[in-house]
Amino acid sequence: MENSITRRDMLKGAGASLAAVALPGTPFSSEPSAQSTATAQDQTRAQRMQWWHAARFGMFIHFGVYSTIERHEWVMENEAIPMNQYVPHAVTFKPVLNSPRAWARLAKQAGMKYMVMTTKHHEGFCNFDTKLTTYCAPKQGPGRDMVREYVEAARAEGLRVGFYYSLMDWHHPDGARCATDEAARRRFVDYTYGLIRELMTNYGKVDVLWYDVAWPLDANGWESERMNAMVFELQPEIIVNNRNKLPGDFSTPEQEIVAATNGRAWESCMTLNDSWGYQRADDDWKSSRTIVRNLVQCACDGGNYLLNIGPKPDGSIPEESVRVLTEVGAWMSTNGETIYKSDLCQVRRSNYASFTRTGNMLYMHVHFWPGEYVAISGLQTKVKAAHLLKTGAEVKFTQDEFQTKFVGLTEKAPDYPVTTIAIECESEPTQNTDFVRINKPRDGV
Ligand code: GLC
Repeated sequence: MENSITRRDMLKGAGASLAAVALPGTPFSSEPSAQSTATAQDQTRAQRMQWWHAARFGMFIHFGVYSTIERHEWVMENEAIPMNQYVPHAVTFKPVLNSPRAWARLAKQAGMKYMVMTTKHHEGFCNFDTKLTTYCAPKQGPGRDMVREYVEAARAEGLRVGFYYSLMDWHHPDGARCATDEAARRRFVDYTYGLIRELMTNYGKVDVLWYDVAWPLDANGWESERMNAMVFELQPEIIVNNRNKLPGDFSTPEQEIVAATNGRAWESCMTLNDSWGYQRADDDWKSSRTIVRNLVQCACDGGNYLLNIGPKPDGSIPEESVRVLTEVGAWMSTNGETIYKSDLCQVRRSNYASFTRTGNMLYMHVHFWPGEYVAISGLQTKVKAAHLLKTGAEVKFTQDEFQTKFVGLTEKAPDYPVTTIAIECESEPTQNTDFVRINKPRDGV
């Protein structure tokens, strides 16, 4: 078939052609040199990232024309919907006025400290006002700037503001051919910079720029150094992720919790069911216990957790998401300090609990409450005292070089969905289970 070019062919083409694309000689004249800006970014990183490390927990929001189709944000591509059938949905996209207020309230209530909303997803529709395309919220169904509404909602709740921006664009005529046609690449890169410039200029202080999918270009094709240089010139305090093919300020493991190495900052992004954009048939919801466990795991390893909601076409949040996040919020209201203030925690071996640490305080987060007692193997420091975080009630314990045992516990878990025991230690708590395995007396043999 003459016209059947597969995605893999396109990717191959992209690689081949980019090697041949020569970038213009001095494209940066009016802006600071990319080199010196990169160094400046390194120097200011610790300070720029401070609020974000302390925040730990954020809300991701996937909202766009795809929400009206109710079949996941990749529906256009996955069902190969022709452009002339997809685009008309933009007219029927009519979110209720100020629906982002409910997103922001729920985020706040859940203990989240920042939000990241899709300003433009792969479908190419801009949720913001732009001079560069009419395929944008004010000129289509919504009839107003949805990004502005979102920004105002986040600020009203005291939450930091993040913008997700997909570099890949299925709507722009140059969005795929830019890989093999230099004139198209030039136009598409200019268009992209124009949109990003508007986002970085028209909404006051923006806290996070969350790039996504760079296909079909690489860092050379996107001129990513120059992209970041422009962003930092307009928003000196911002932090950016690594999905424009540069390292940026933090890594973005997706749907998994994997700590970055070498002290690099990381944020695990995850869906509440299996879809980012609203998918009415997806009922594979995670429980509040799973969410709390995930958040604890992120905090234990020094990372952030960016948890997604996919609002319905009218902007309302699926009931299941509200229920789960409300339960998580109730837990965070008494246990949040164990997450926000956590240092890296080496203690981790248990089959019913996970751990976080602040200084010499160890928090044992029991997700399967066995009743009567809980125990930790190989704790290397002396315990001074322990209490239930939920009630403040003292917890008695026994300790020898192998086992630390917290006793006299109730049959029923004191907290939901996870019960936390605060364990005050004499020095920084660490665990050595090898020591236990080797040295614990064995019977007879
Ligand atoms: C992927 C998907 C996208 C989603 C994103 C979130 O890149 O393409 O739909 O927005 O992950 O991390």
